[in-house]
Amino acid sequence: PEGLRSLLLSRIRDVPDHPRPGVMFKDITPLLADPAAFNALIDALAGLCVRHGADKVVGLEARGFILAAPAAARAGLGFVPVRKAGKLPGQTLGQAYELEYGTAEIEVHQDAFSAGDRVLVIDDVLATGGTAQASLELIRRTGAEVAGVAVLLELGFLGGRARLAPSLAGAPLEALIAV
Ligand code: PRP
Ligand code: MG
Repeated sequence: PEGLRSLLLSRIRDVPDHPRPGVMFKDITPLLADPAAFNALIDALAGLCVRHGADKVVGLEARGFILAAPAAARAGLGFVPVRKAGKLPGQTLGQAYELEYGTAEIEVHQDAFSAGDRVLVIDDVLATGGTAQASLELIRRTGAEVAGVAVLLELGFLGGRARLAPSLAGAPLEALIAV
């Protein structure tokens, strides 16, 4: 709803030239610090978990953790961290993805999901879609199913939705705000 959207948008701060000149950083820390706005955000994300029939909720390190863990708990679901390479202690699957300069890799525990689990991925921002796309590849490689992706903020001008579409394979991409 528009009320939720404008509340959330009003608590996201534009920081020019971070982390590099010419980049407008979308800072969600004012939203996290406002209990009414944060609670409304977590309610909305938990509602998406239920609506899309998720069995487990993935959060993408690091900012995705802040949103996905409380949303999973509120929806009565387990939380699974997808971490930057080298952090998870058990047997992992890894997936590389492209950054503006160079590549990065994310990992998940290979036993994080049960066969046939429907997994919803939560992150703060969808930009180029590289991070979310890599997470969907990882989830499918474990044998789990993709229930969808939910983000607080989609930066439409970076084309992440189109990039993600093949990996979504018809699963929904939900953005609470799109700019
Ligand atoms: C940011 C953001 C998303 C990702 C979006 O994470 O939190 O996860 O970039 O970009 P993309 O759609 O182009 O992949 P980042 O890796 O910068 O750092 P974080 O650890 O603070 O979440
Ligand atoms: Mg991130």
